[in-house]
Amino acid sequence: MDDFTVTPYTVEGDVDYDRLLDQFGADRLTDEQLQNFPHPTHRLLRRRVFYAGRDVDRFTAAAARGETVSVVTGRGPSGPMHLGHVYPFYFAKYLQDELGAYVYIPLSDDEKYFSKDLTFDEIHEYTRQNVRDILAVGFDPERTRLVVDTADADVVYPVAAELAKELTPAAVEATYGTPPNVGLGFYPAVQATHLLLPQLVHGRHPTLVPIAVDQDPHVRVCRDIAAKQRHDVEKPAALLSRFLPRLGGGGGKMSTSDDAPGILLSDDRETVREKVQRHAYSGGRDDVDAHREHGGDPTVDVAYQLLAYFFEESDETLDRLAADYRSGELLSGELKAYAADRIADFLEGHQRRRPEGPIADVVEPYRLTEAERARVRPDVFGGESDRE
Ligand code: TRP
Repeated sequence: MDDFTVTPYTVEGDVDYDRLLDQFGADRLTDEQLQNFPHPTHRLLRRRVFYAGRDVDRFTAAAARGETVSVVTGRGPSGPMHLGHVYPFYFAKYLQDELGAYVYIPLSDDEKYFSKDLTFDEIHEYTRQNVRDILAVGFDPERTRLVVDTADADVVYPVAAELAKELTPAAVEATYGTPPNVGLGFYPAVQATHLLLPQLVHGRHPTLVPIAVDQDPHVRVCRDIAAKQRHDVEKPAALLSRFLPRLGGGGGKMSTSDDAPGILLSDDRETVREKVQRHAYSGGRDDVDAHREHGGDPTVDVAYQLLAYFFEESDETLDRLAADYRSGELLSGELKAYAADRIADFLEGHQRRRPEGPIADVVEPYRLTEAERARVRPDVFGGESDRE
């Protein structure tokens, strides 16, 4: 029996990332596969935060030939965004900048309504806030589309309905556990739709879905049913990441509902420093003398892990920090101060780019155009066929 659980709706225990791949049937990323991504390779790949995948090679090969490729990575708008939510979007931007990839960003307001104790009004307030944070990443409006399930139901629902016919209650139960309501039982067909949208709008091509590993079941379901119901698409590829460590340490994912607080995208430098100093699990020794003598352990130190996962770009700096920490020269408080400042630097840039002004104007350039919608949506009353 495993001592951890990972599904889209529960992440518990100390996650064994290797064992998870066996459970899910995904493949560990090889060095060679890594080299097929645009250079310089993104640090999330170099450092194996993205550590596994499905069908990654077809995506990188098509991209290398200069063919159309796309990326889908989404957000469940159930609260303010924290650090653990944002790195897949920065990764998507790297693929857009380097490959010209289309980026599709679904926001699953319906999913969060079904799974959380929130009203639609509350979820839509988060949706608007989250959209500003996602757009702060700096996507190209020509090649990026935001889709909100209930607001873009004209395109989402018809496809989801088609896919839902191939999805049995038994398959849903086996993949996600018993859904608490039929809404959540239907939702896998909606997320499967998200992963096919770029192909439905722009024609058949490879799509990559970079996401935390807990979302892999959705990709699996999509790959299974898409092949049966839609002959005009190929199966989306997945790139799966570990969870950004939570401040309190341990193997789960960073969460806003934890004891130790998550770092929010809206936090200022002082708040980040305070949260890191007070809550980040330390791999250092209990007192300075012991630390100077025996050194600390960067592999369990959350401040170090946050730098390694995302916030320190320089490999040399990272190696030096690890060496100095191990030797005892660098103290835990110093390492935390360094990490907090790198995180705050990142957040200042992010906050500066966060778009202001009426949300309708902010989002308009990123919504599906009428022509794009028409390509996906069935034309029920447009034909002449009912003339008697
Ligand atoms: N289900 C995801 C979550 O809860 C959000 C999401 C919706 C998503 N559609 C997606 C993520 C497509 C990746 C790809 O966070």
